[in-house]
Amino acid sequence: MGGELDGLEGVVAAETVLSEVDGAAGRLIIRGFTLDELSGRWTFEAVARLLWGGFFDGLPDDLRPAIGAAREEVFGEVRALDAALVARPPMEAMRALTARLSDGDDLATALRLTAAPAVFTAAVTRARASEAAVAPDAALGHAEDILRMTRGAPARRAEVAALDAYLVAVADHGLNASTFAARVVASTRAGLTSSVLAGLSALKGPLHGGAPGPVIEMLDAVGEPRNARVWLEAALDRGDRLMGFGHRVYRVRDPRADALRRAVKDLGEGSNRLPGRLALAEAVEAAALAVLAERKPERSLQTNVELYTGLLLEALAFPRDAFACVFAMARVAGWIAHAREQQAAGRLIRPQSRYVGPEPAEGRPAAA
Ligand code: ACO
Repeated sequence: MGGELDGLEGVVAAETVLSEVDGAAGRLIIRGFTLDELSGRWTFEAVARLLWGGFFDGLPDDLRPAIGAAREEVFGEVRALDAALVARPPMEAMRALTARLSDGDDLATALRLTAAPAVFTAAVTRARASEAAVAPDAALGHAEDILRMTRGAPARRAEVAALDAYLVAVADHGLNASTFAARVVASTRAGLTSSVLAGLSALKGPLHGGAPGPVIEMLDAVGEPRNARVWLEAALDRGDRLMGFGHRVYRVRDPRADALRRAVKDLGEGSNRLPGRLALAEAVEAAALAVLAERKPERSLQTNVELYTGLLLEALAFPRDAFACVFAMARVAGWIAHAREQQAAGRLIRPQSRYVGPEPAEGRPAAA
């Protein structure tokens, strides 16, 4: 069904000043900066400020205190986290708490929405481990407070830097599925909370933000570097997709994969709870690229962002079923910027479908 229209591949559906994904060159530009210029150098708050510039009245030069205050503000919603929600997957529980925030288009709403995935994910993951939520500390940077709220103890400087590098690397990425969903909702003037909820819902799928958890399951299943090729071939024989590989736009290596591999290396093998993990991931990567090139020579399937995301978030001790929630902590900045840009464009997104169903039959008797 759908034929050549499946997936809207190659269709340009928006003009944006926010980011460009150059799939042939393997280059990501965020508002005039390459990812290399930003990753490992800028904080998440600075990149959010970069993305939001011109889209809000009264936008402060430094978003750090404002996002910190918003973390404290939304923490009150954690009281709604009941046993039924804790039993749901973290993304569903975090999304449900986010849905309690009121809709609006102003900066205050944007700040609350930016704080929400961080504060709610930390509370949800702690509740799942039967631990009480840790209140935010507005004086800290976003990455530092995320780790502190999640663990209940301060993180090392290298860990904070690694999380910041991740949040910056994935804050925005052209018209990906969740950003498109957020823009469609924004175009109806439903409000930023509604747009962010649409983004969260799209991000949760394993073909988009839900891949890094399965990446870690794959590494566990492979076990040792020498098993990689046999395991990967068996997975493809079963018709499975190899998580962490392939991309709709990139035909070369995803530049975010390099940024995150660097961040994993900087963090140091010693801080990884599972020694040898980086060597295993590199062996799986090399074997997967070789097998995919043999099996799909017509398609250039390369490493995407999710392989090293899985490794990094595992090293930072986030539970694997909450990896997509950590992705949302970053991408929410991009969704909000895109939603505001779409609102400014002012036009409802309403494409058409081509009907390929049966024609009404002549002289059909009326239904009883
Ligand atoms: N493993 C095995 N085969 C693959 C993979 C993969 N990872 N990716 C694509 N293919 C195959 C498809 O099965 C398809 O084969 P067919 O034509 O015989 O049916 C062909 O390659 C299609 O390739 P593309 O058109 O490049 O893939 P598409 O654009 O439809 O999908 C996607 C992109 C969803 C990311 C895909 O590569 C995939 O499922 N990857 C694994 C999941 C993953 O890592 N997701 C995270 C993506 S990054 C992000 O969203 C943040």
